Amino acid sequence: MATTITLTGAGGQIGYALLFRIAAGDMLGPDEPVRLRLLEIPQGLRAAEGAALELQDGAFELLEHVEVTDDPAVGFDGANLALLVGARPRGPGMERGDLLAANAGIFGPQGSAIAAHAASDVRVTVVGNPANTNALIAASAADGVPAERFSALTRLDENRARAQLALALDAPVASIRGVTIWGNHSATQFPDISRASVDGEPVAERLAQRVGDVRAWLEGTFIPRVARRGAEIIDVRGSSSVASAANATIDHVRDWTGGTDRRHGPDGWTSAGVVSHGEYGVPEGLVSSFPVRAIDGDWRIVEGWEPDAPARARMSASIAELAEERDAVRRLGVL
Ligand code: NAI
Repeated sequence: MATTITLTGAGGQIGYALLFRIAAGDMLGPDEPVRLRLLEIPQGLRAAEGAALELQDGAFELLEHVEVTDDPAVGFDGANLALLVGARPRGPGMERGDLLAANAGIFGPQGSAIAAHAASDVRVTVVGNPANTNALIAASAADGVPAERFSALTRLDENRARAQLALALDAPVASIRGVTIWGNHSATQFPDISRASVDGEPVAERLAQRVGDVRAWLEGTFIPRVARRGAEIIDVRGSSSVASAANATIDHVRDWTGGTDRRHGPDGWTSAGVVSHGEYGVPEGLVSSFPVRAIDGDWRIVEGWEPDAPARARMSASIAELAEERDAVRRLGVL
C-alpha cells in the first residue's frame, strides 16, 4: 500500500526541492508508491498547485495521488509521514520571543491536527525553524501520539560536518563515519568528531597530520564553519540552503523508516533531534540532537559515551539555549 506523506510549506523553496525527489523514490525507495498531501497557507496555495502540476508532468510511476490544501484536517488525513517544513521566518526587527510565538501558532495547531487525523503509525519530521522547539511544541499538542514519533532535522549539520572533514583530510566523504551533532539546530550546536573515523581510523589522528593542533582547528575553523554554514550559503548564493536541506530531509526519513543499519552498519549512527528522557544530562522533554540509531521505525539514542570536559561545555551551552526556548514558549502559555 502507498505511504501517505504530508508536506507543509509545499509551495516554498525546500518543498519544491523535496517533492520531486520523494516522487522519484529517493526517500522511501524505488519500490514504494507514495501519495502526497501538500499543505499550505492560502498565500502559498498557488505555488503548491504549480508544483503539483509539475509533479504530474514528471509522470512519476511511484506517485499515486497529489492533493493540495490549506486545511490541516485534509492535509494530515491518513498521513504516515509528516514533513513540517512550513514555518514563519524571522522578519526584520523580530525578536526571538516573537518568532517563537509565531511558530507556536503554527506548530501547536499542526500537532493537534496530526493527533486528530494522521494514521496511527505517523512519524513527524520538523524542518521549519526553530526546528527543535517547533518539534517540542507539535509533540506537546499531539495528544495520544508518543513524543518519540516527532523528530527535528539536524542531519544537514551532520552532512556539513562530514563534508568539511572530507575536505580537510582530502578523503572521500564516504570514508568518513561517526560524526555526531549535539544540541540545538542553531549556532550553538556541537559537531563532535570524537568518535568519527576515516577509513576506520580515528579522524583526530589523521587530522593531526594535516592541521597540526587538532583542538585549535576544531575550535577555530571546523566548529564555527559548520555552525555558520547556513549564513555562508546565504552570503554566497544570495538565498538560504534549499537543495542541501531537502537532501538532508531525505536522508533523515530514509534512515528513520528504513533503519540506520542499512547505510551506517549495525554499530553506526546518525544524528537527529529527538525527545530526551534525561540522556547525557539533557533535561527530560527537550528535543535535542543526539547520536541515534533507527531500529524498526524508532529512534534510539546511543548511550554510554563519556564526553570530555570541552565537549560537555559545548553541549551544556546548546542545551541551555533549548531550555530557554522552551521556557519562552511556556511563558506564552503554549506548553
Ligand atoms: P520558504 O519561505 O521558501 O517556504 C516556506 C513555506 O511555508 C511558504 O510557502 C509558506 O507559505 C509556507 N507556510 C508558512 N506557514 C505555513 C503553515 N502554517 N502551514 C503550511 N505552510 C506554511 O522557506 P524554505 O526555504 O522552504 O524553508 C522552510 C523552513 O525550513 C524555514 O523555517 C527554514 O529556516 C527551515 N530550514 C531548516 C533547516 C534545518 O536543517 N532544520 C535547513 C534549512 C532551512
